[in-house]
Amino acid sequence: MAQQNALNHAKGTAPADAASGTDASWTQGVIKQLNDSLATELVCMLRYRRHHYTAHGLASAKIADEFLVHSQEEAGHADRLAKRIVQLGGQPDFKPDSLSQRSHAAYDDASGLKAMIQANLVAEQNAIENYTQLIRHVGDRDPSTRRLIEDILAVEQQHAEELQSWITE
Ligand SMILES: [Fe+2]
Ligand SMILES: [Fe+2]
Repeated sequence: MAQQNALNHAKGTAPADAASGTDASWTQGVIKQLNDSLATELVCMLRYRRHHYTAHGLASAKIADEFLVHSQEEAGHADRLAKRIVQLGGQPDFKPDSLSQRSHAAYDDASGLKAMIQANLVAEQNAIENYTQLIRHVGDRDPSTRRLIEDILAVEQQHAEELQSWITE
């Protein structure tokens, strides 16, 4: 028994796990979730990009410009997630073939401005829900990842509020 305790103790304090204070399989799970979030950000970047170039109508110039701003912010989120995945010892997955299957948010093919705004709002709400769950999952086990996700979540909440204000305008 004493030997087993010593083994467990050694396992828990292994140098490979020291950086984030987590065990390897738990970290692998976080990396998987970060990769799903990376796919989500990339799909959101593409959706907003297409909406920027295809939105038209008298009221849409300001909104179309904001779609580009959102697209650039989603790209920034993707960069930060990829960087964190590497810091945790993982491989960021940019494979285009599986992006939409892994993403929490849809790409969307809408052509009308209102439908675009609505699709973006749903996508942001999905992202908010998933980031909220991820923060809860990470808890105090990996403060660096949690702070990153909290930062990104705050921006997604701003995006959602902005979209909501255009719907009620
Ligand atoms: Fe984002
Ligand atoms: Fe967003």
